[in-house]
Amino acid sequence: MADDFQQGGSKLYAALARSLADEPVVEALVGDHEPKWEAPLRLFGGVHYLELSGMVQHPWAKLRGVLEANRDWLARFVAEQPIQTNEVQRCWGLLPAFLSVAEGRRLDLVELGPSGGLNLYWDRYTYRYGEDRWGDARAGLELSGNAEGGPPRELLGTDVQVGSRIGIDRRPVDVTTDHGARLLEAFVWADQTDRLERVRRAIEIAREDPPRLLDGDYVEVLPALLAERDLDALTVVYHSVSTVYLRQDERDRLEEILAEEGMRGSLARISYEVDRDTPTFYGFALDVETWPGGRRRLARLDGHANTMDWVA
Ligand SMILES: C[S@@+](CC[C@H](N)C(=O)[O-])C[C@H]1O[C@@H](n2cnc3c(N)ncnc32)[C@H](O)[C@@H]1O
Repeated sequence: MADDFQQGGSKLYAALARSLADEPVVEALVGDHEPKWEAPLRLFGGVHYLELSGMVQHPWAKLRGVLEANRDWLARFVAEQPIQTNEVQRCWGLLPAFLSVAEGRRLDLVELGPSGGLNLYWDRYTYRYGEDRWGDARAGLELSGNAEGGPPRELLGTDVQVGSRIGIDRRPVDVTTDHGARLLEAFVWADQTDRLERVRRAIEIAREDPPRLLDGDYVEVLPALLAERDLDALTVVYHSVSTVYLRQDERDRLEEILAEEGMRGSLARISYEVDRDTPTFYGFALDVETWPGGRRRLARLDGHANTMDWVA
């Protein structure tokens, strides 16, 4: 995991993961947690949570002692708290897909696996792609990244109107509570201050109009939700870094649900997930699907949407 932290841009976590890998206190805290790669993310998330809540000060320089002193609390956090990364920068990857399906219709959003729901407010942020911009320049959060070959300027001239916003998550995070907001902040790597700043601004925006998050497995909940959708609007079902957690049979069922509902019309699907077909340096793909119309690839991306290679 130290290499992953290094590649992901956290020198702090890379150095700590390396120096603590063989520490008995770490073994005592994470036990035989599976999958193994999750253990450092949960442990560092727990320490960051303690720091953000003021329960410990400056923990990173004296981490071994902090682990010893907070053994029980951290062991419980590692065992019980799934990783909750709500990466708002992914909206920078998703936006062109929303614009490409909009076609002047009202959009009713359904996000699968929204975590705290921060990416349900993508239309309230402002964006930069090279020289081009989208959104209200007075928005409280600006997202930008390194875009190659697009998105096309005409597409960024598209206006959208969002109707409803609903997410379905089996562990939804309530960002209106201190605990929920702190949890999303805690899973940002502690030295990534830009990411932390973005998540804080997005939480403020979400708190002005809290999202409707349904608690459940989206493969089970989605059919009933789609059955009652308003066919006068375009319902956009979307997911980012979420179907990776499904078993193959669940993935197949999701495809079936969308294909069946797609036949009734007024449905689009946006997928920002691991690229299983043609794995590349970027690792992730942005696809849109409409009925009729079929599935189309728009871009390749990295997992946090810092870089986009436009291919449409
Ligand atoms: C890595 S997070 C990504 C959150 C958000 N989509 C983003 O891009 O920031 C994955 C989320 O999917 C949720 N999730 C995974 N499988 C699910 C399922 N079958 N039903 C409901 N939620 C699920 C998890 O609880 C978690 O909140």
